[in-house]
Amino acid sequence: MTRHFLFLLGSARDSGNTELLARKAAEQLPADVTQRWLSLTEHPVPDFEDLRHDSDHVRPSGDNTALLLDATLAATDIVIASPLYWYSLSAHTKRYLDYWSGWLRTPGLDFKQTMAGRTLWGVTALAHEEEEVADPLIGTLNHSAAYMGMRFGGVLLGNGSKPGDVLTDSAALTRAKTFFAQEPPLARFPYDS
Ligand SMILES: Cc1cc2nc3c(=O)[nH]c(=O)nc-3n(C[C@H](O)[C@H](O)[C@H](O)COP(=O)(O)O)c2cc1C
Repeated sequence: MTRHFLFLLGSARDSGNTELLARKAAEQLPADVTQRWLSLTEHPVPDFEDLRHDSDHVRPSGDNTALLLDATLAATDIVIASPLYWYSLSAHTKRYLDYWSGWLRTPGLDFKQTMAGRTLWGVTALAHEEEEVADPLIGTLNHSAAYMGMRFGGVLLGNGSKPGDVLTDSAALTRAKTFFAQEPPLARFPYDS
């Protein structure tokens, strides 16, 4: 089956370390894998409005929300490329994920069934040297994948503060070479045995 990778760029600046690292990893993808790159700052969506218990969400059309939904549904592999902001996902990325809660309730989408078995990946850059401070971000993505019945490929971490710094993190560049070559397992919650 042909794989379709969707890279969602969630930094609040262009061409930052997260994107650079994600592009390094993507260079290694086989030629028959399609890649689509979308910047969440270039495709802004309004703050998520929780209508789950008031009325059904309707399928968006003709706006950035529709574009992101259609891109998500078309992807076998979704790569969340978010810098580490306050130890977790950037607001742009988090807002995109909040929309998943609406799509779960949108009639006709079967969003959960459609996404089940697909793969969620993460790429993040952080300024902190000790990588365990990124655990909240990793947990968010792992648990979200587990909730959705998705596979989880883990998070590729790179160090850097100003744009370009990550290109001097040789360990991260080495990890990037094989990151997408893994066969990711189905995500599990920590309490799953
Ligand atoms: C709003 C904000 C919050 C940040 N929070 C953290 C943090 O919690 N831990 C950390 O190590 N670095 C933090 N940083 C530093 C960024 O993670 C770092 O500069 C990273 O390289 C940015 O990625 P980018 O170049 O892809 O935008 C923060 C930066 C910003 C702008």
